[in-house]
Amino acid sequence: MSDARAQTVYFYDRHPISCEIILAKLRASRGHLNGLRPDDLFPYDQDHYGGLAATDELARNARITKGSRVADFCAGLGGTVRYLAFKYGADVTGIELTPSRVAGAEELTRQVGLQDNARVIEGNVMSVPLDDTTMDAVVSQEAFCHVPDPRQALSEAFRILRDEGRLAFTDWIANEPLSTDDAKLMWDGMAIQPLRSIPEYRHLVESVGFKDIRAVDLTTEWAPILRERLAMYQRLREEARQAGTPMGHDAFHESYVRFVDLIQQHKLGGVRLVASR
Ligand SMILES: C[S@@+](CC[C@H](N)C(=O)[O-])C[C@H]1O[C@@H](n2cnc3c(N)ncnc32)[C@H](O)[C@@H]1O
Repeated sequence: MSDARAQTVYFYDRHPISCEIILAKLRASRGHLNGLRPDDLFPYDQDHYGGLAATDELARNARITKGSRVADFCAGLGGTVRYLAFKYGADVTGIELTPSRVAGAEELTRQVGLQDNARVIEGNVMSVPLDDTTMDAVVSQEAFCHVPDPRQALSEAFRILRDEGRLAFTDWIANEPLSTDDAKLMWDGMAIQPLRSIPEYRHLVESVGFKDIRAVDLTTEWAPILRERLAMYQRLREEARQAGTPMGHDAFHESYVRFVDLIQQHKLGGVRLVASR
């Protein structure tokens, strides 16, 4: 899987949630984009499971308050970056691999005037373009599943955090090893790397030096969220088809249906991991 970057960029370039789609939806509901506020975006720009409540839970665990310096690993369109800056008054830097997501994040952040304390920069979380011990918190949501060497990404989090700084992230887990066919489907459709169980994840976090590690199994919580998300993607896909602008790629839809199925069976699941430097 050495072509991880190409596969990830291919997937996110075709993702059903994009800057263009978000702005088109806002234009349709408001008639124009004048005077957009950050909270106008929040119903559309959160590309993780559980919406703003999930981010509030990460923020609480990461002890994010006014002025906290936060890095969001794999920030996508910057939904979490803007929310943490807007609601908590944090200074937030997202690191994002896919150039079209970085451009989309910049446009959305500019539209709502948050660029002074919210930004998404292009980079790879396995080699983060931020200085040592400059961050109070590192967060991430549903993204290390794409990273070929998550241990390296976690060491980068450790490197940029100050002493006692906080790590809080959510991610996919495999409660049992996937069959070869399912692993291939996840890779082909969604650029998913080999996954690990919660004990293996805890071990990984500990192995780079983090302490006070806590893991919460989110599998049961994610099951209904993902059923709804699949229905949302199917609605978006149908709307796009009717508008004559088909989106996504078939491998994505095929793998997403199977992913949601595997979550319902608890073969795949989710975890929230929290630790201190
Ligand atoms: C599920 S999205 C997360 C979006 C964001 N956390 C949110 O909640 O809106 C995952 C993102 O991770 C990015 N990504 C994947 N591998 C990466 C890497 N090695 N370094 C930086 N970003 C990466 C993808 O391009 C994608 O935008």
